[in-house]
Amino acid sequence: MKILVTGGCGFIGSHFIRAVFKQRPDWEVVNLDALTYAGSLANTIDIQTHPRYRFVYGSIIDKNLVDTLVAEVDAVVNFAAETHVDRSLMDNEPFIMTNILGVQRLIDACVKHGKRFHHVSTDEVFGSLGPQDERFHEETPYAPKNPYSATKAASDHLVRAAVHSHALRGTISNCTNNYGSFLYPEKFLAIAITNIIEGKPISIQGDGKQIRDWIHAADHGAGILAILERGQIGHTYMMGGDCEMNIADTARLVLKVMGAKDDMLQFGKDRPGQDRRYAIQFGKIENELGWTPSRTFEEGLEEMVQWYRENEYWWKPIKQSSGYRKWYEAQIGGLV
Ligand SMILES: NC(=O)c1ccc[n+]([C@@H]2O[C@H](COP(=O)([O-])OP(=O)(O)OC[C@H]3O[C@@H](n4cnc5c(N)ncnc54)[C@H](O)[C@@H]3O)[C@@H](O)[C@H]2O)c1
Repeated sequence: MKILVTGGCGFIGSHFIRAVFKQRPDWEVVNLDALTYAGSLANTIDIQTHPRYRFVYGSIIDKNLVDTLVAEVDAVVNFAAETHVDRSLMDNEPFIMTNILGVQRLIDACVKHGKRFHHVSTDEVFGSLGPQDERFHEETPYAPKNPYSATKAASDHLVRAAVHSHALRGTISNCTNNYGSFLYPEKFLAIAITNIIEGKPISIQGDGKQIRDWIHAADHGAGILAILERGQIGHTYMMGGDCEMNIADTARLVLKVMGAKDDMLQFGKDRPGQDRRYAIQFGKIENELGWTPSRTFEEGLEEMVQWYRENEYWWKPIKQSSGYRKWYEAQIGGLV
């Protein structure tokens, strides 16, 4: 089996490639990545010399490149995306180009060459839940609330349309918030952990009552592998961590795991369009494919903290770069 992974130099894509080499050591992986600010060759440092791995620098928007690479492989798994909500509020164009046009390019090539396609999506396409609402599931209507989730919703619809109209052998997974090693320090948990290591406080947007469901990226990767191999064509599978927790309590758990005091929390202004609650029912993938998260949130968080403590070489240069400092000052304020 030879697969094309797109966006494999990002956070979840790199975890997925690791899961493939661990669980399917005879598979070949071609990783196509445009190395945007969120992607880095450092994310695949432990994979780069694998004899069955090849990195290709380029964009999923590049029609000819995508066509050539898709022709060479058996299946495509798409992680490539612009993924940060705050950035999508400032400039939506890269989101529209990659998350919509780029996905259509992958679909077109998979249809043309008759290849299997798995599209990695997010629970954010379903909008926000009230405190008493039932968790998102495969039949929940789409209701995106920001440019990022709107473009991801569009890409899901394009995949579904191609399954129906062009017999694409496609599947989709919608997953909740991921955490783990290699999480870029613009995402909440990575900022929180690295700030505490640096002796700086954790900033919370708004009242900290926003509820998220956390899943380890390695568990997400294992679920995608199960769908790729055994999922039903045309189906969507939800994945979650079975761990609903509000942001303030999540920050307190980080402090506890890291042995820091509660006065390291700061509350700031909320961002526009902030969704209040995400939570997932993942009974379908459990029942059909036997997938379930392999670790509790606290266990995964301990692993993650240890990784950030041992790998300052990875995150320190990012936090010290001028682009990052400017972004942090505008979005979060205070000391980086
Ligand atoms: N992070 C989460 O919590 C989460 C949750 C559910 C779903 N997802 C989805 O999982 C996927 C991966 O998310 P992530 O957190 O790893 O993102 P990320 O931002 O860490 O990585 C995205 C990768 O895509 C690459 N990329 C961007 N534009 C590209 C293009 N035009 N061509 C080729 N490569 C390109 C980037 O260089 C980067 O390596 C996304 O589709 C996202 O919507 C993420």
